[in-house]
Order: sequence, then C-alpha cells, then structure tokens
Amino acid sequence: MTSARIIDLLRDGQTNDSYTLRGWVRTKREGKGIAFLELNDGSSLQGLQIVLPQTIDGYETLIKQITTGASIEVSGTLVESMGKGQRVEMQANAIALFGTADPETYPLQKKRHSIEFLRTIAHLRPRTNMFGAVFRVRNACAFAIHKFFQERGFLWVHTPIVTASDCEGAGEMFGVTTFDLNKLATSGKPVDFSQDFFGKPAFLTVSGQLEAEIMATAFSNVYTFGPTFRAENSNTSRHLAEFWMIEPEVAFCDLEGDADLAEDFLKYIFNYVLETCPEDMEFFQERVNNQVMANARKIVDEQFERITYTEAIAILEKSSKTFEFPVSWGLDLQSEHERFLAEEHFQKPVIVMDYPLGIKAFYMRVNDESASDRQTVRAMDILAPGVGEIIGGSQREERLEVLEARIRSVGLNPEDYWWYLDLRRYGTVPHAGFGLGFERLVQFITGMGNIRDVIPFPRFPQSAEF
Ligand code: 4AD
Ligand code: MG
Repeated sequence: MTSARIIDLLRDGQTNDSYTLRGWVRTKREGKGIAFLELNDGSSLQGLQIVLPQTIDGYETLIKQITTGASIEVSGTLVESMGKGQRVEMQANAIALFGTADPETYPLQKKRHSIEFLRTIAHLRPRTNMFGAVFRVRNACAFAIHKFFQERGFLWVHTPIVTASDCEGAGEMFGVTTFDLNKLATSGKPVDFSQDFFGKPAFLTVSGQLEAEIMATAFSNVYTFGPTFRAENSNTSRHLAEFWMIEPEVAFCDLEGDADLAEDFLKYIFNYVLETCPEDMEFFQERVNNQVMANARKIVDEQFERITYTEAIAILEKSSKTFEFPVSWGLDLQSEHERFLAEEHFQKPVIVMDYPLGIKAFYMRVNDESASDRQTVRAMDILAPGVGEIIGGSQREERLEVLEARIRSVGLNPEDYWWYLDLRRYGTVPHAGFGLGFERLVQFITGMGNIRDVIPFPRFPQSAEF
C-alpha cells in the first residue's frame, strides 16, 4: 500500500500521471454531477483539489458520507488546474472511505476557530492550518539543529531524565515517586517506595548540562536535545513545565567562542526554515504577525548586538520608559527589561554577557582577573525580539578550588558533586556551552504569541491532559 504525498504532487507531480492519495477532507463543494474536495494529508499547508465526477463508483452514497474531517483514499490522474492558486488538481477515478466525521459533532468545521478554543481540543488542533504549519516548522527546526551540529562534528549525547542533581540550583524540580499499585497501604493509598528504589530522592532533570560536561571532557564537542522539566509556578506565555532543550557543550572554548557558536546556530536554523518551509512561513506572516519574514531575514543577515550586563543596566537606567520592576546593578533582568533591549532599543537579538555572580548558577566561571566589588561571572543570555531570553549559557568554572568554594557558598555540598569535581581534578580544560529553549525558538521563528501553542501537548500549572 503506497500512496503519494500531497506536497510532492503540488511541487513537482507530473500531469497525466496516476497517483493514489490518502488524507482528511478539509472542504467539500457539490455542483451538478460533480463534487470538489480539498484533501490534506499534513504534508503541506495547501491541500490538493480533488475533482469527483458522479460517474465514479458509489458516488451517490459516498458524497453524502464524505464531509469535513472524513478520511479517504482517492486514486486518479493529475491534471493542470483551471482554479486560482493551484498548479494541479486530481481528476479522481476511484474513491474509498476510511472513516466519517459527523458534522453535528466534529468541532473543526470550515470557519476560523479561536486559538483559545483550539487549545481545548489539543487532540484535533494539529489538523488545522495554523497548527499544521507550527508543527511542520517545529520539525524543520529539530532537523536543522541536528544537521548543524552533525556537520560540525558534535556528538549527540543522551543525558538522564531522572537525576539526583539540581543543575540550576533553583529548587524547581519535580520529584519522582515510585508506586507499586499492587501494594496498598492500610489507608488504601499506594505506597511510595522511591527512596528504596533509587536509594535517594530522585527528580526530573531541569537541564542536561552537568552530564553534557562529562561527555565534552571526553569527546570535545557534544550536544543534548531532550525534554527538561521545571516546577516553576509561572503562568506566562513563555514558560512550560515540560519543554525541550538543546545544550551544546564545547571543550577548549571560552565565552566569546560560545557566543559565536550560538549566533551561527540561530542563523543556520532560521535559514534552513526559510528555505524548506516557505509556505508555512508565509502563513505566519499573513495570519500571525506581519513582521515574521522581516525578522527572520534580519536574523540571518545582521550581526547580533553584544553588550555586558553592566552596559545593559546603564541603557535601562537611562531610558525614559517606566518599568514595573526595579533596575539596578545586581538585580536580575526581568522579561520587560529583556524585551525592551531586544525589541525597542536594539531591535535585534542581543547577547548580554558577564552577569553579577550573585544571580547566576554555581558552575559559571568567576571573572576574577581584576579585583572588583562588582563581581561577575562569564554568563551570557541571548535576548530575542518578541520572546526575551531564548538562550542561557556560560563558560564553566574549570578551576577545582574555585568551583568547590562556589558550591559551598551557594549552600550545596561538594560531596554530592564529587563526579563533577573529578572533571576538574583530572585533565580539566576551559569549556563553555549554552541551552536553547526549543519552544521559545519555535515562537521566535513563527511569531506565535503563546508558548502553549508551539508544543503539541503543553504542560503548565493545572494542565496535564492526554
Ligand atoms: O537559562 P537556563 O535555565 O539555562 C540552563 O538550564 C543551562 N543549564 C543551559 C546551559 O548552559 N547548558 O535555560 C536555558 C533556556 C532558556 O534560555 C529558555 O530559552 C529555556 O531554556 N527555558 C524555558 N523554556 C520554556 N519554559 C521554561 N519554563 C523554561 N525555562 C528555561
Ligand atoms: Mg536563564
């Protein structure tokens, strides 16, 4: 059972050739002795018009049963289309029905549905134009990411989902409970025996970085690409409880090299999506945000801005804009500050470097070459217009004693990090890396306003359907 993909026929299907297609009906129009269907199989934004003459076997019965959402198989000849906006259409000579979709109850009828409504039917929204485009672009981004790193000789390494360490030290981890549903306590509730299972409390990872560092100190250049979890109670358009992260880790690299890699990386992904998903990008431009194409071109063509945290604070302090949250050296940048810098001040991505030590994670390299009361670390964040922070990275502390002291000073126990310290004890090297939030990247490229609409099954507070 082989059938053609609609995208291939739209792009370079030969007229007068015969094909078999399978997919879901988007619309049906009936004329005298003829019907027109728009068929979509998910391979492209545009469906293929199918012309059904009434001479086809079973026409009378089938045409009543085939409504929006029905799944069908159709065979026929590809012909030049007289219709506007399509090169070809199919003149059908056989059709079969897999499943009907009762128009009384099927929610996706031919009209515009609000994005909020579609969020309540996450199991059906992939069949709409908007979510079709989002998930195709998401797929193209994932492929571009692997292509970028593989072409540069990076090894894709698989870091654990279940872990005992809190990489970011923010204490926002989901715990792993281990139930034996066959053993109920006297209360009738299942018994949690996680402690027995792992021997210590276990959590879902917030980042694969620490383990990626292990691999980088053996393979030089590595990257992770996997799910990460954060129990932040953030009900915003940029936070998820479960999101995907890409984390390259590079041995013999400093912060400047890290920033260069991140900039090349983002440019590469944008370029790839512009080349491979032109129709979907056009859709976002027309339906979501009329700046999408201009932004994308700018990412590819223009250099990112690079400033220090201290310079960022000075810009924010000088600006005439009133911010909700205070701006002062030593305080973290809030989303409104990040967006001001990227969207209004520079109007392009900004790489902010050298943040205060007090607001960053323990593993970042301390800038202590010159003594200063404004102690900073070799951290960088990349701020994107419309999204804010899209990448967070740093040069890592490679000096054993400095790292041990930092671990202690943030209240962690160096003994818990014995393996991490071993990397500094044996053959330590300068190294750096960063984390790209995959969903924030997809938001950035598509212009979609809410992060819950760029992942098929979003996880956020009070929501874990499916
Ligand atoms: O800045 P973060 O916390 O950095 C790290 O986890 C480092 N260990 C990365 C590294 O150096 N290897 O997270 C990295 C990125 C953020 O810039 C953001 O894009 C995304 O992950 N992110 C989230 N995306 C969606 N929902 C959340 N709750 C997110 N938290 C972080
Ligand atoms: Mg961050």
